[in-house]
Amino acid sequence: MLSKKASSLCHGEDSSYFHGWQKYDSDRYDKLTNPKGIIQMGLAENQLSFDLLESWLASNPDALVMKRPNGESAFTDLALFQDYHGSADFKNKLVNFMARIRENKVNFKPDNLVLTAGSTSANEILMFCLADPGEAFLLPTPYYAGFDRDLKWRTGAEIVPIHCSSSDGFKITMCALEEAYQRAKKLNLKVKGVLVTNPSNPLGTTLTRDELNHLITFSVAKNVHIVSDEIYSGTVFDSPSFVSITEAVMDRNLERTDLWSRIHIVYSLSKDLGLPGFRVGMIYSNNKTVVSAATKMSSFGLVSSQTQFLLANMLSDMKFTDKYMKENKERLKKRKETLVSGIKLAGINYLESNAGLFCWVDMSHLLVSNTFDAEKELWEQIIEEAKLNISPGSSFHCTEPGWFRICFANMCAETIQVALKRLKDFSQSINSKKKAGSCSRQRRFLLGKWVSMLLPYDPEPDR
Ligand SMILES: Cc1ncc(COP(=O)(O)O)c(C=O)c1O
Repeated sequence: MLSKKASSLCHGEDSSYFHGWQKYDSDRYDKLTNPKGIIQMGLAENQLSFDLLESWLASNPDALVMKRPNGESAFTDLALFQDYHGSADFKNKLVNFMARIRENKVNFKPDNLVLTAGSTSANEILMFCLADPGEAFLLPTPYYAGFDRDLKWRTGAEIVPIHCSSSDGFKITMCALEEAYQRAKKLNLKVKGVLVTNPSNPLGTTLTRDELNHLITFSVAKNVHIVSDEIYSGTVFDSPSFVSITEAVMDRNLERTDLWSRIHIVYSLSKDLGLPGFRVGMIYSNNKTVVSAATKMSSFGLVSSQTQFLLANMLSDMKFTDKYMKENKERLKKRKETLVSGIKLAGINYLESNAGLFCWVDMSHLLVSNTFDAEKELWEQIIEEAKLNISPGSSFHCTEPGWFRICFANMCAETIQVALKRLKDFSQSINSKKKAGSCSRQRRFLLGKWVSMLLPYDPEPDR
């Protein structure tokens, strides 16, 4: 009855990442009404600084009621037809904000910016612009679980994973890039580019200079695009500091080469300002043809003029945004430290990180075997017994079983303590079950040995 696209399974929704959200929705934790419910730690949302946004709104009510600084109403202008180029005022404020996040080391031109309904839409539009159905983008693993939907589902583009390993902190190496490229070729897929998240979701780490240089060298050699999803660029709360792909390309004096027009940045206000519901995203590209095509495509997911008006007002208050960014980072850092001390107490190791709204943790010691089936079993146990929704590494295409992503910024300080207590109790109960299992195996082994010693000795047992 439905079209092939509508009934296609490559939406990616059939993964533990999204199943966890469904489970959480059916049994949400609430301190008073459902204290035994599931705590959501599978959603990269930032709720730590809402009070700052709300206090700005309280002192700037004109922005909400659509009044201009001169007291005139902007209602009619905002309510009438808007074309897909977006508000010039908002775009100016946005490029300025993006430059400040990058310590003004990079300059952005508003004409190179395309407004989209979140980064979800920005990533998809870029795929439509850069790849035909059946052509591929290379993505380092582990990668954001939503990319199967955003990059592949409607565009028909393919993702070929660049396999990164825990042995070197999941770094992107030249060898891994080349190996993925060759694998794509063997599959008869034309590689159109590499897409990275910087800072990485799910690792919570910024790309190093070496990694950025590998990407640049690779994309020059293979003549391919680089898409850098920098949605978490304003959530870098610890050293090393964030280096954007643009800065890395400029540092190698490559602005006047072809590569410059193959660099595309994706950004949104969903994470840094904690506004995923507002659906404000963007593509920044130095490629005029991409900007023009993407602008036309943005018709299918525009940002409402009312939202643009409100946020243009907020972003023009630089005193507020600077204070917000500083305070928000401090809160995130503190919250991450709370999470890390809790998971350490639970005997769980983690990848050192400096950014994002999550921590990438290694729970492989709790698996019954080193397999993805065992990882799924553990994930189910965590959600059913510990009542925590965390996301298993397999949903991020991690190649090593036992890694999980734990989000830490979408709850209050009290709830995270409940979550950490549950995690500790759960981890201790699995460890003692494992110990009991290995003791009884040991007992069985010793008993077998003892029985065989009592039997008469036969020097030629195979006779
Ligand atoms: C790396 C990355 N890209 C894109 C998105 C989608 O963000 P948006 O809400 O702006 O569509 C997310 C959301 O988690 C993300 O982590």
